[in-house]
Amino acid sequence: MSDIFSPSTIARFRAETDGVQHVNHLNNAGAALTPNKVRDRVLDYLKEEALQGGYESAAKHHEELQASYEHIAQFINAKSSEIALLENATVAWNMAFSSIPFKAGDIILTTEVEYGSNFINYLKAKKEKGVVLQIIPEDEQGNIDLLALEKMIHDRVRLISVTHMPTSGGIVNPAKEIGELAAKHGILYLLDSCQSIGQLPMDVQQLKCSFLTATGRKFLRAPRGTGFLYVNANIIDQLSPPFLDQHAAVWQKEDQYQMHPGAQRFENWENNKALQLGLSSAVQYAQEIGMENIWKQIQYLANYCRAALSELKQVEILDRGKHLGGIVTFRHQKMAPFELQALLLESKINTSVSVQRSTLLDLKKRNIETLNRASIHYYNTTSEVDQLIQVLQKV
Ligand SMILES: Cc1ncc(COP(=O)(O)O)c(C=O)c1O
Repeated sequence: MSDIFSPSTIARFRAETDGVQHVNHLNNAGAALTPNKVRDRVLDYLKEEALQGGYESAAKHHEELQASYEHIAQFINAKSSEIALLENATVAWNMAFSSIPFKAGDIILTTEVEYGSNFINYLKAKKEKGVVLQIIPEDEQGNIDLLALEKMIHDRVRLISVTHMPTSGGIVNPAKEIGELAAKHGILYLLDSCQSIGQLPMDVQQLKCSFLTATGRKFLRAPRGTGFLYVNANIIDQLSPPFLDQHAAVWQKEDQYQMHPGAQRFENWENNKALQLGLSSAVQYAQEIGMENIWKQIQYLANYCRAALSELKQVEILDRGKHLGGIVTFRHQKMAPFELQALLLESKINTSVSVQRSTLLDLKKRNIETLNRASIHYYNTTSEVDQLIQVLQKV
């Protein structure tokens, strides 16, 4: 395989991202480098707020702010009324999860690679509401066993809740196949797309999810402090957010309020308008490039990285699974993960370390306390991957 984009297109991506002149950024699963256009939209808006006033700027840019819902909706093939803008994926996820009216004995089916913050809330619901948690089995390679999943489904199963791509491994879980099962049996389906949004095309009609939660700062390349929630319009009426403000609901009479008919019932009134425009700009930027090609280039670069790592005798690749994305995990026999991360940083190579508690079930079972993570995006290059390999060779 070779680069999906032409050399001049890759040069353009890099010319449009000032950060690449300063760092070799292989920490896109942490927070990606924002394109200059995204950064500038945020800074310009903030300057305008400082000069004109916050409310006055919002009134002036009302249409552009409203259009951000439309852009995000188009990006995942949803309706704009199905999008709530929130400050991160965790808030989006918890808004969705805590709005489900669980009863004692309701079953939640989830994965071995579930993200720590999600799992803590399953445990909280178990303790406080008496829900039952069941883990979907996987094969030795970490692939979800879809046949086993179907056998686990019966009338007490209330929710299937799945992390699309975990924080500490390269696997891409079969989100669409799971969605088909959930739809067939009429079960709510919550998809954590925090690490997958911006990596691969996402279409909620195909995924058949009830909820999709996303962050902006990772593979979408938006600023930090951005995220969104998609909620299928057909179920919104059944859902009561954990709290409401007078943006999420209208106080109609002394003893009466009405919730917003759409997903905005999950929002609250005050939010960062500059960041909202930054998220919208990042989504449009990705859409202009095309998610199909972004995904192919990510897979090409990540596979290039895995192939190069596999040549190093002292390095063990820790990714498992049939389908792999842009997160590459490994460890070095001679150097502990945090030390190695610091060493790479000396060469201006940004990577990160995943700790066991982020995906406790999975990493504990595999007896891994910490691991190194290089997460690669389409604006990275094979020579940046080569630089990583050179440092590892010298350890
Ligand atoms: C799989 C997954 N889900 C959820 C989150 C939480 O996202 P956020 O920090 O935007 O709340 C993360 C963060 O790394 C993640 O990797």
